[in-house]
Amino acid sequence: MAIDMVSIGIEYLKQKRSEIDSLLMEYMPPETDFPRKLHEAMRYSVLAGGKRIRPILCLTAYNACGGRDPEIINPAACSLELVHTYSLIHDDLPCMDDDDLRRGMPTLHKRYDEATAVLAGDALHDLAFKLIARSGSAEVVSELAWAIGTYGMLGGQMADIDAEGKETSLDDILFIHKHKTAALIRSSVRIGAILAGADSGILARLSDYGEKIGLAFQIVDDMLDVEGDQQKLGKIVGSDCKNQKATYPGTVGMERAKRDAQRLIDEAIEICHAIDIDVTNFIFIARYIGMRES
Ligand code: IPE
Ligand code: IPE
Ligand code: MG
Ligand code: MG
Ligand code: MG
Repeated sequence: MAIDMVSIGIEYLKQKRSEIDSLLMEYMPPETDFPRKLHEAMRYSVLAGGKRIRPILCLTAYNACGGRDPEIINPAACSLELVHTYSLIHDDLPCMDDDDLRRGMPTLHKRYDEATAVLAGDALHDLAFKLIARSGSAEVVSELAWAIGTYGMLGGQMADIDAEGKETSLDDILFIHKHKTAALIRSSVRIGAILAGADSGILARLSDYGEKIGLAFQIVDDMLDVEGDQQKLGKIVGSDCKNQKATYPGTVGMERAKRDAQRLIDEAIEICHAIDIDVTNFIFIARYIGMRES
């Protein structure tokens, strides 16, 4: 991609990230409300930053499919970031990945305590459903519930924990990554498209796009855990190795992991070219996922 296209893409992501940040600030309960500690903890994790890739995908899909009502899409897009942040808070707990650094700051259970981290995660999950319900669409509420439930993200998290310290096949790792990460990323795209009233052909293609970038996203995450820069990443490099995690590079080797991630990005872009809507921003996002350092 030409340099000016890369900078247009980066500018787009920056602009959308700042829109999401302002909305999140508005939707989160104020710290001054009781229970203050819980509200403070929720804001600490959500407002610590993050790439906001899931809400950006949702907004991008909504706009590209002709949606125009911010009252519908803004709360729905933010709900994706809230469930994602809840999953990170719980993922970092000592009983899960036992990590001390997240988004460049101490993890929530380090900053507060484990009980507060569990409750703040629960509270973000509840707030997410309250927000997505504002769309008035039972279809997207159900889509989100499936994406993060036992047949989606939680199923992947369970398999991830069960695979610690064990030999894994390519099929095992594909199952883990498709469920723990790709399911929510795919649904982020789908929720935006469904709310905009996309037809079934477009929705099917966007779902495939979401699945491919979602899988690539977790492969790159695993690669960064080995080769990344802790400062840029905002989390501890080498955590997967410490936990004897099943990872993509650990299963097929780093060279093949890089090739497979790139192939998935290329395939996602191919799919975009076959969709009869403006796909410019979907292509930016796919490329960004392939080259990200944080
Ligand atoms: C981290 O997600 C957890 C994974 C699913 C790999 P992100 O890389 O999107 O984390 P933030 O939101 O930018 O902090
Ligand atoms: C996390 O995967 C996936 C979910 C939180 C659902 P990881 O455990 O690899 O994410 P990081 O590396 O801690 O961000
Ligand atoms: Mg984990
Ligand atoms: Mg983790
Ligand atoms: Mg990881």
